[in-house]
Amino acid sequence: MTSKALVLVGGGTRGTRFRPLSLDIPKVLFPVAGRPILSHALSAVATVPSIKEVLLIGFYDDSVFKDFIAESSKEFPQFTIKYLREYQALGTAGGLYHFRDAILKGNPSSFFVIHADVCSSFPLAEVISEFEKKEAKAVILGTRVEAEVANNFGCIVSDPVTKKVVHYVEKPETHISNLINGGVYLFDSSIFDVIRSARQAKVEAANENPLVKNDEVLRLEQDILVRLAETDGFYVYETRGFWRQIKTAGSAVPANALYLQKLFQTDIDAPGLAKASAHILPPVYIDPTASIDPTAKLGPNVSIGARSVIGPGVRIKESIVLEDTEVNQGACVLYSILARGVTIGRWARVEGSPIGLSEHSTVLIKNGVRVQGVSILAQNVAVGDEAHIQNSVVLPHKEINGHVENEIIM
Ligand code: GDD
Repeated sequence: MTSKALVLVGGGTRGTRFRPLSLDIPKVLFPVAGRPILSHALSAVATVPSIKEVLLIGFYDDSVFKDFIAESSKEFPQFTIKYLREYQALGTAGGLYHFRDAILKGNPSSFFVIHADVCSSFPLAEVISEFEKKEAKAVILGTRVEAEVANNFGCIVSDPVTKKVVHYVEKPETHISNLINGGVYLFDSSIFDVIRSARQAKVEAANENPLVKNDEVLRLEQDILVRLAETDGFYVYETRGFWRQIKTAGSAVPANALYLQKLFQTDIDAPGLAKASAHILPPVYIDPTASIDPTAKLGPNVSIGARSVIGPGVRIKESIVLEDTEVNQGACVLYSILARGVTIGRWARVEGSPIGLSEHSTVLIKNGVRVQGVSILAQNVAVGDEAHIQNSVVLPHKEINGHVENEIIM
């Protein structure tokens, strides 16, 4: 029975592409659709009744997840949640090997490994059913992406009939397949035999070559999955549900839209989801402590954080507004992220550009120049009355007046 899920949460020295939003909050705790990114993965895990333990594995300081674990333990009493801290970044498989005793405690017949930074419909029940049907040792979640972006991911070649993985290449240089690694795996305990042999190969390589470090770092993709594809029992489950990565700060905007749409379709009365009206175009999430003037118009795909104040005549669309933010009369916020404590002056305009939900890049080419698709105002930025910010990123505590376009304001 699948009784555990391990979630790879990374650490502070990774997730740099999420800056400036990760300057004051770890990426996996950043709220999309009103909840931390990590919470969406836990909600998916909670749909599998046999899972009794969730292990978060990363190299953030222990204190980072203390409050999150306390709150999530109340929300998900069906499983215990623990944080296992790597003493340094051990790679996507090094931590699994380092904590193998904790993972194998209680003899789970199989366990999930989930990347915390994917935004997905997480079809975990379907992955389990494929695992059982094929009597597999490992099943990987696969998803199709456009050929032009496939090489940014792990690429899978599988038997079209049996779905057995026959070849795996991480971020190949030439096109191999547009079926890519979706960052969710179900393994049985024999995965540790494969990790052990990869570890052994590394020790031997280090003995022969002083340039190879004999450390505990192991990469699930290059060191393990490539080997696994040469054995029997490794299958892919291809999802047609939504899937994207949350890598850049801008990618939180399409992720917010996808999770809000999912919530709206599955539970229209979910706490925080605002009812449709002339001023609310669903889905819109509003924290119960936020104050919204009745003449403001919000949505679709908008999240408003705790204690934020949205003034009269304001228009907000396709955006994330975090806590303690103030958007004053007549201001307009489109395809943007306003971090904690941002103030937007009257009649100001903050805008990015529309990004397709299935597009895997948030950078656009505008008049031949690469620009940020999403405008991002970091913590405590103040935008003056009638100012205009377009396709720009503003770092914390800056004050902006006038017009800013295609810029990074440091
Ligand atoms: N515990 C731990 N330790 N977690 C880590 C470490 C580490 O040293 N390094 C990365 N992670 C976590 C990240 O936080 C993220 O959740 C996940 O592992 C994968 O991150 P990356 O190593 O940055 O890989 P990637 O996102 O470029 O690509 C991976 O994910 C794609 C799907 O999202 C690969 O597995 C690709 O093949 C895959 O398509």
